Amino acid sequence: MEELVASPASRFWGELRPPSDKSITHRAYLIGALAARGALIRKPLRGQDCEDTLELVKALGAIVEAGDDSVRIRPSKLSSTAAPLWCGNSGTTLRLAAGLIAGQGLSAVLTGDESLSKRPMRRIVEPLREMGADIQGDTPPVTIQASNLHGIEYASPIASAQIKSCVLLAGLGAEGDTSVSEPSHSRDHTERMLGSSGVSVRVEGLTVTISPGRPEHLEVDIPADPSSAAFFLVAAAMLGGPLTAKSVCVNPTRSGILDVLAEAGVSFTLVRSEGTDSEPIADICVETKPEDLKPFRVGGALIPRLIDEIPVLAVLATQCNGTSEFRDARELRVKESDRIEAIASGLRKMGANVEVWEDGFSVAGPTKLHGTTIEAKGDHRIAMSFAVAGLKAEGETRILGAETIRTSFPDFEQELRRLAN
Ligand code: S3P
Repeated sequence: MEELVASPASRFWGELRPPSDKSITHRAYLIGALAARGALIRKPLRGQDCEDTLELVKALGAIVEAGDDSVRIRPSKLSSTAAPLWCGNSGTTLRLAAGLIAGQGLSAVLTGDESLSKRPMRRIVEPLREMGADIQGDTPPVTIQASNLHGIEYASPIASAQIKSCVLLAGLGAEGDTSVSEPSHSRDHTERMLGSSGVSVRVEGLTVTISPGRPEHLEVDIPADPSSAAFFLVAAAMLGGPLTAKSVCVNPTRSGILDVLAEAGVSFTLVRSEGTDSEPIADICVETKPEDLKPFRVGGALIPRLIDEIPVLAVLATQCNGTSEFRDARELRVKESDRIEAIASGLRKMGANVEVWEDGFSVAGPTKLHGTTIEAKGDHRIAMSFAVAGLKAEGETRILGAETIRTSFPDFEQELRRLAN
């Protein structure tokens, strides 16, 4: 088990290009594997979660040429596999691949690590069965037997991009149109990428409809991941900056953290640049007065727009002058760990004042944190959030199981040390 030791910092400043977006990289590999004329993916994330997706499409027959900073997928014919497909720690890999495999009329078994093996899969098994899929597994392994699918109108009870994307990818190979509606907007990278690669996608309010077909060609430059940038934006908000995160995806379905930073009184600027494809990007610069941090409230439709940033926003809340609240966030209980429990127990161990509910928690600040030992619990975002908390703590903070960080941000420790002093 690897350990990361975070030490207190008095400043956090400089410039970085955060790692490429994990959600968009997964989609590029999966959609690229289907593309009739192949795909060119520039600057993909080389984190373990996305490497697992790349290996998975290779195991299904995709012809992949991986270079230093790009991945090319040649036009390929996918086929069923007998050997189980490994999805590692990644719910996105498993849920999206299940949709793709079922839609293409293939058979496969999808498995993953200890954390993934506990995560709920009925949320995708049910709509896929409604489409005619022969699929089993309330938790991984998930077994799919080849069958023909038909389009459905699916009303998802949860605002989840993984559910939406699974059904849309299945719909590519179904007979008739498939539509998915959700209670509020979740990230829309799948619909953007399918649309830009030649598939007929219509979006009306909270409903996305696709017609069956094969993506034509995909060429994409992956922007930096706002969920990875978040760790350093929060570090700068707590320590003042100036910190510039370059080329960050600011798709409105991902940028909820910027709304929260504004509500917390953090000063930042956004310099938009021309995105080369379907995702908007910007350089984000935080330069602020940490003594002025105000408490904030998150809930409702904002939750899916910042779901992965909640652990590090909880750390920010410990430094705000008053009580911050996180509501309507029950989904946190079924992420790579039970994040409500992991945030509350870790922050309390560092001296913070946290109250917990079934669907959220509150943090009463400001608190002088103290260093301690935190278990990452197989959850990269818990590991990185507590490393950031360690910058504001007295004494050292030890993160046990820090190897999990490689799933999304391989250079995290190096970048943290470069920017903190
Ligand atoms: C993701 C969607 C979200 C997010 C996850 C990545 C995606 O999960 O938490 O880290 O790439 O579609 P849900 O769809 O379960 O909300």
